[in-house]
This record gives sequence, structure tokens and C-alpha cells, in this order.
Amino acid sequence: MRRKTRSCCSPSCRPPAGRRGSLSLLLAGLLLLSGCGGKEEGLRIGTALYTKDDTFISTVAQNLEGMVREAESETGRQITLFLSDSESRQSTQMDQVDRFLNRGCDVLCINLVDRTAAAVIVDKAEAEGVPLIFFNRQPVAEDIQRWDGVYYVGADARESGELQGGLVLDAWRADRETLDRNGDGVLQYVMLEGEPGHQDSLLRTEYAVKAVTDGGVEVEKLASETANWNRAQAAARTAQWLEEFGDGIEVIFANNDDMALGAIDALADTPRDRWPLIVGVDATAPALEAVAVGQLYGTVLNDSRGQARAMMDLALALWNGEDPARAVELTDGHYVWLPYRPVTLENLEEFLEA
Ligand code: GAL
Ligand code: CA
Repeated sequence: MRRKTRSCCSPSCRPPAGRRGSLSLLLAGLLLLSGCGGKEEGLRIGTALYTKDDTFISTVAQNLEGMVREAESETGRQITLFLSDSESRQSTQMDQVDRFLNRGCDVLCINLVDRTAAAVIVDKAEAEGVPLIFFNRQPVAEDIQRWDGVYYVGADARESGELQGGLVLDAWRADRETLDRNGDGVLQYVMLEGEPGHQDSLLRTEYAVKAVTDGGVEVEKLASETANWNRAQAAARTAQWLEEFGDGIEVIFANNDDMALGAIDALADTPRDRWPLIVGVDATAPALEAVAVGQLYGTVLNDSRGQARAMMDLALALWNGEDPARAVELTDGHYVWLPYRPVTLENLEEFLEA
């Protein structure tokens, strides 16, 4: 792997013992000129968010900012986080990547707008020898394997679907009378899908339902449509479905919490005796509050802290020239997978404390 050459004071930059004497004067001069140990010599992380207007993504970014400050005080070294909002445009993100590379960033953390645009970014980063960490929006395996300096930090979408479906299955088994409103022994549901083409939309939709049917429960899909991870769009969709199906909806699956909260907004707007059971994914702060008051039956923790931690640890290891496999648990040399965890009223306390 070609890595960027740095004029730095880190132990990994030391020349082999035999050459040290002859180079020492020259290096001392260079270090004086470059101000080594000063601002320019710190770690620079360029991070692009597909959009900052996404609850889960902005939580990852906040965690990352906090961890940068912590790492700075722990290591005593300057760490600069350049954070940019790609505003849902891949062309904007491409410009941001170019700018990060021009500014001499040492590591890039990229939350792709378009998952199929990864190859171009990999090639740009490889040409500069700058390691690249994709997160949350997973490129296809061929793009990740294009260069050894590419990593992906995320969570297994299929697992989140299975856990979400498991919550519904448990609720059905525990209290079928209540859940099966029309008493036909079949679970009638609607599905609020995330962005089309996103791994989490596709796999959560598929595996949440599969977990229920694998548990021996017959299901009937009343409707399934995208609301693009968005609360307002989900509220509009749900309002339409409530008009169309009324109390016929027994469960609302939402691919993320913002959309589950949108469904709750729509239900709150049309007073009714009983609400369908609603489940989300992410465990964002407002979703945990909705679990606490009983509006949201459950959610699945998408570990924003763990994902930010993994990015930070990887970035530090790569910068220090250390083996990344010693800093994070790496699968197939490229992937860091953070586990999902189901959340209901029963174990809510643990998550509120965190
Ligand atoms: C998912 C998350 C969604 C949204 C999406 C953006 O993992 O559950 O809420 O943030 O990523 O890519
Ligand atoms: Ca039913």
C-alpha cells in the first residue's frame, strides 16, 4: 500500500538506525522549518456526512467530535476534525473529498451520499496514500477491496431487521389477543421504508418480516413505501394509511426511529382508542423518550458511539503507522462491525443512562 509521506516526529517516521546519524542534521533543519510538534503536524481527519439533517448521522458526528477532544487531551497532540455536510449531493461530496486531500488530511471518514460512488473516492485516496474509512452507507465489497487502505465501519443491517422482527414476534406471543385486533390470527402490517437502495432499507424490510414469519406467525402486508428516513414524510404516509385502513393496521414497522416518530405524529393527530404497535431502529434520544411514554413499543440500538469510537481508534492507529487490527476488531481486513441491541421498556434504563 502506498502511504502518504509525512515529515513528522512520530516514532514510525524514524529512519533506520544506520542512516540516523547522516540524516539527523537535515531532519533537525526540516523539523524547524515545518514546525514539527506544532499545529501542522497534528492529525487531520476529513469527515463528510451525507447530510447533517439526519438524526442518527448527526449523533455519530457529535460523538466523533467529543472523542477527538478526548483523544487530544489524552495524547497531547493536535487533532483537527474537518466536518462537512454533503447536503445529499454526491457531486458536493466529491468536491469536499478533493478539498480534504488538498488540505493534507491524514485520514478520510466518508458517509457516502450515493453508495455506488465509492470507487472514485477510493482511487483519489489511494493516489494520495490517504487511508479511507467509509461509514454507515456501505459500498459494495469490490469497492472496499480495491485498496488495502479502505475500511468500513457500520452495523449488520440484517441483524437489525431480525432484532426488530423479534420484538414484534415476542409481543405477539405475549399478548396476541391485544395485537390481533381483528382476531383473524394474521398480523396485518404497514412498512415505512428508508431511502431506496440503502442496505439498511432493503435488509431491515426483508428480515424484520422474515423473523415474524419464521416464528410461525402469518402476516399480511397492507402497504410498504419509502419515507426516506424522514419524520415528516413518514407522518404523511401514515396519515394516508390511517385513512385507508383505519384500525386494520396492527403493526407499523419503521426502518428507523425518525420514521417511527413520524407515524406517532400522525396517530397523535387523529385521536383513537388504540394504537397499532410501532417499532423503529436507532435508539435515538427522542425515540427512547417515546419508548418511555409507551408510544413506541421498541427500537434497536444502532450504536452511534461505538461507530464513532471505531473510526477514531482506526484513524489514530493508521496515523501512528500501527496495525489497525490491534486497534479495532477487523473482519476480512476491512470491516468493523458494531452489534445492534433490542430496546424496550424492560431494558430502557440501560440505554437512558448511556
Ligand atoms: C441508518 C439509520 C438511519 C439513517 C441512515 C442514513 O443506519 O438507521 O436512521 O441515519 O442510516 O444512512
Ligand atoms: Ca389480524
